[in-house]
Amino acid sequence: MAQPGQFIMRIDIITVIPELLDGPLSLSIIKRAQDKGLAQIHVHNLREYSTDTKHRRVDDYAFGFSAGMVLQIEPIDRIISQLKAERSYDEVIYTSPDGETFNQKIANQLSLQENLIILCGHYKGIDHRIREHLITREISIGDYVLTGGELAAAVISDAVVRLLPGVLSDEQSALSDSFQDDLLAPPVYTRPAEYKGWRVPDILLSGHERKIAEWEHAQAVERTKRLRPDLLK
Ligand code: ADE
Repeated sequence: MAQPGQFIMRIDIITVIPELLDGPLSLSIIKRAQDKGLAQIHVHNLREYSTDTKHRRVDDYAFGFSAGMVLQIEPIDRIISQLKAERSYDEVIYTSPDGETFNQKIANQLSLQENLIILCGHYKGIDHRIREHLITREISIGDYVLTGGELAAAVISDAVVRLLPGVLSDEQSALSDSFQDDLLAPPVYTRPAEYKGWRVPDILLSGHERKIAEWEHAQAVERTKRLRPDLLK
């Protein structure tokens, strides 16, 4: 349950392929966050806002000579206007390889917001006036091109929702995640303590809390230096 005074984060995702989001947002921790009333994720099928009642088309040929279909402005303006008439939004995000690269800092920022819209990008793009007039933030999940922005929207929603208070238990606490302090997480082990002669480091079996914490920190620093030295700059 959300605590008194705690807001329920709402994410509205706009897509032409809602089925692509079914799995990632309806299982495991993200499902539990919604069941516990800590977050609401609403997926909207853009075709329902088409101006073409017969074929429900939402794209059209690009002006000029570029090949391919482009998402039209009107269906997107219709749904965003309808959502904005119901509540105010902190950000209207567009997922695109052109955007700022998503990272833990952006996830932390977004987790402090109350209402977000995520418009999923489309392989040949969307009418540029949408980006100029309706979008407040463009986010990429990395320097590679996906067929559409749905998987990016799922990645962003997952990374943000797990940070909301009450979503993770204390043991899973997001504060100990890789990247929260610009360090990779230390290695973890479970039983058996020895398997095929491969042993868990003795220190972890020692029961000595302070020494274990020091060892974990040293491991985090060593792993970060070796694997992601860029994070230490
Ligand atoms: N759409 C296509 N590629 C993408 C990416 N890398 N990040 C976000 N949205 C995208």
